[in-house]
Amino acid sequence: MKRSLIDICDLSTEEIEEMVDVAKDIMRNPQKYSEKCKGKKLAALFFEPSTRTRLSFEAAMYELGGNVLSVSSADSSSASKGESVADTARIVSCYADIIAMRHPKEGAPLVAAMNASIPVINAGDGGHNHPTQTLADICTVSLEKGRLNNLTVGFCGDLKFGRTVHSLIQALSRYSGNRFILISPEELNLPGYIKKDVIEKNRIEYVQTTSLEQVMPELDILYMTRVQKERFFNEEDYLRLKDSYILTPEKLKSARSDLSILHPLPRVNEISVAIDNDPRACYFKQALYGKYMRMALIMKLLGIEP
Ligand code: CP
Repeated sequence: MKRSLIDICDLSTEEIEEMVDVAKDIMRNPQKYSEKCKGKKLAALFFEPSTRTRLSFEAAMYELGGNVLSVSSADSSSASKGESVADTARIVSCYADIIAMRHPKEGAPLVAAMNASIPVINAGDGGHNHPTQTLADICTVSLEKGRLNNLTVGFCGDLKFGRTVHSLIQALSRYSGNRFILISPEELNLPGYIKKDVIEKNRIEYVQTTSLEQVMPELDILYMTRVQKERFFNEEDYLRLKDSYILTPEKLKSARSDLSILHPLPRVNEISVAIDNDPRACYFKQALYGKYMRMALIMKLLGIEP
């Protein structure tokens, strides 16, 4: 039966952990996986800009021995002539074996999955979800911390529109002993439905604050995010909020020596480049791990044994 990944909830905890194990095995033995997808094609349909997600999906498929068909903007496809997501999904199903789709409209990858005859992966839909970034994030936490439970995680920045935060909170809420500190300006607070339906439902302890400095010493993980310019309705609000949090070496002085700093990237100003060589900075490794997790995911959805 065809399986898609639209929301991180489409994967069980066991499946996510199995994929982390596969990703770690790929890192150790890349040659073992180099022909796993021979003869298969990934269609990367990106109707919104991307560097990491699109290129890591493409690199993942090439490193599995497969091939890639790519749409890198809405302008370069018949979406610009008014073709629907449903029709696009039906058509691409004739040419490829699996689709990775990014779209500015929330729910577009779900519509694609309902109309495609091949698996569809949500590569980010509006301000909603980004489940494959969560796979990268979980792999990073597993490698850096050696566990996925009993962690105090600070989510900092744009928690309203930051789809990576929404998906990661879903995933980390499954593990006991995790505690969330939600750090944002009030206008960019985490949506109420995620607090109620995910955090509170799973009885996860959380606090909401506007001060990163105050909570810094408590954190095992600091998940920084960019203020999502493209989701704002007016530029004035964006300009007022964009530099709400800037992580500097000075601010890190009160942090734990084993803090792990994650960021889905791209960053704008929110992490000073002076931190890039700090051993606590994990964000570039995180982008690399995303490729290995996408390799594990492609195999899983195509029913290919690792
Ligand atoms: N993290 C992430 O989704 O990056 P891109 O927008 O470059 O794909």
